[in-house]
Parts: sequence; structure tokens; C-alpha cells
Amino acid sequence: LLSPPPAEIARRYFSMYPQEINPVWTNPCDSEKHREIWPEEKSCRRLPKLIIVGPQKTGTTALLRFLEAHPSLKSSKQDPVYFEEIQFFIGKNYLNGLEWYQEHFPEPNDPRTILFEKSANYFDNELAPKRIYALLPRAKIVIIVSEPARRAYSWYHHMRSHDDPVVMNYTFFEVVSAPETAPRFLRDARNRCLKPGMYAVHLARWLQFFPQQQILLIDGDQLSKDPITVLNNLQIFAGVQPFIDYSGKLEYQEEKGFYCLTETGCLSSNKGRKYPPMDVESSRYLDKFFKDHNTNLRTLLSDINYPYPLWLAQT
Ligand code: A3P
Repeated sequence: LLSPPPAEIARRYFSMYPQEINPVWTNPCDSEKHREIWPEEKSCRRLPKLIIVGPQKTGTTALLRFLEAHPSLKSSKQDPVYFEEIQFFIGKNYLNGLEWYQEHFPEPNDPRTILFEKSANYFDNELAPKRIYALLPRAKIVIIVSEPARRAYSWYHHMRSHDDPVVMNYTFFEVVSAPETAPRFLRDARNRCLKPGMYAVHLARWLQFFPQQQILLIDGDQLSKDPITVLNNLQIFAGVQPFIDYSGKLEYQEEKGFYCLTETGCLSSNKGRKYPPMDVESSRYLDKFFKDHNTNLRTLLSDINYPYPLWLAQT
């Protein structure tokens, strides 16, 4: 019996089924057949049960740090390249495979341990919900929504502090109002600044995969001003044991203008930056820009009987 070499068979197979070129990782431990051949040392428990999916600039790092202070919540280990975010489900890291992902988590040493990760770019990525659902169908998903113009402005200052060549050469207004005729790099910056704040579009996509009970929406303003209530709600949502009182772990620091951990202090100076208020022209432009998106978010949340974040109720 003659057969072509494996690479040739693969080439023929994928020319017949091109939609299968990109893998979709599922949990080998969810299937009896796979469990039998899955090596014992590759634990099935080294997978997160909770994912903070973003978006960027809504307080995701504060939430991560506060959750890390809980004895039962263990976050993913820092990646030497990607620092605090693994960003497995988007981009090329996904092709590194399941083992690569699992290596970023500690082996849970207590049945109450809940592993979690935060990657702030999952929220507005088109592939992320599908891929996360395929691997972790029971995961709890945490989304933070801040007033979208404020989020966009924070993003602009974040990029400036990283000397991003585009934002260094354009004002905030020039970035957000860049027309379709603008150079590609400027339109890309505009999209990266504004797209994550189109909350309804992205939330609807997550709801196509995850049941509503598995999704927690956090009001980003409430996270800044009243993190203790947010953390209480999150503990209930994720079924965290033991339930701890965060009022003993967090205190408001006047100088920083934010809550900080009593034991380890405030977040670094690149979180909670000081910058001038947004100019009136940009503010008006963004009010108009996000008006329909916010209306759509209100409709979506009403449809699923979910309370509005305060900033949305007030706009
Ligand atoms: P600014 O630096 O623009 O004020 P992310 O971690 O997702 O990038 O979000 C950064 C934002 O988190 C900060 O944006 C800040 O407004 C917000 N934030 C919320 N709680 C915070 C806290 N306790 N300390 C610092 N920043 C906090």
C-alpha cells in the first residue's frame, strides 16, 4: 500500500477543506476519547475559568491587580514578550497551541482556586469569542465599559506616552475625526481609538457565543470610584470562595485620585495619568459619533434585561 508523504497528504487535504487551515482548539478533557490519550502530566486544570476581555483603557489593569489580591484567584503568569497580557486568542499566539497557553497558568493547588487572565484586546476582536467559547465554554467573561469618548481620550494619551509616531504628530481631534480620505496610518489610529468603544457591536458578538449569565458588564466609572462594590459583585458572579471584604484591601489615595491596594500601593504612574480635559470640539464630535452606538447599547441591554452603566443612563 503506497501513500504520499504526510506533508503532501496535508496539502491535498487543506486544498479540499481550506476553511480548516486555521485550527480551533477545544478542551481535550471535555471528550472521553481525547482524555484517554492526553498525557497525565498535561493537566486539564491549568485553564482559566474567568477572562477579563477588555477593552483597553477601561480600568482592566486595576481590576487585574485587585483580583490578584484575592487568595483564591490566580492570574496567568507574565509572558516575557507580552508582559501582563497573553493575548492567546487573537493574533499569532493562537497558533502556538494549547500547551503554550497552559504553560502561562500555575497548577491550581486548592479546589477553590480560580485561574483567570486579562487580555484587553479580546473584547473587540472578531475571532476571540468563538475561540474562547470553543476552548472554555463555561468560562465567565468580564467586560468593562467606560464612557466611550473618555476611553478614546485615555487611549490617545496612552499612545502619546509611548511616543507613537502617529498620535505624536496629530491632535486628538485630528485622530478621531480623520476622514476616509486620510492616509492609512491615520485611519488605522482612528479605528484603534474608536472601535473598542462601539460596545453594542462587540457585546452582541459575545452574546452569540456565551449565555448572558456568563457575562458580567462592569461600569468602568464605578470601578474607578467604587471598586469595593464592583469586586463584591464580581466575587458573586464568579462564585469565588471565600468571599472576602475588599474594604480591608483597598483605600482611596487622594494624591493619586484612585483606589490603591493597602498592601502593595497604587498602580504605576502610567495608569491614572494626569492630562488636560478634552477640548470642546472633540467632545462634541465624539458625542455625535457615539450617539447611535450608545442607543444600540441601551437597546441591547434592555433586550437582555441588563441594567445600564450609570454613564449610559445619563447620556
Ligand atoms: P487613565 O490613565 O487615562 O486615567 P487600562 O488598565 O485598561 O489600560 O485602563 C487604564 C485606566 O484605568 C486609567 O486611565 C484610569 O482611568 C483607570 N483606572 C480605574 N481604576 C484605577 C485605579 N485604581 N488606579 C489607576 N487607574 C485606574
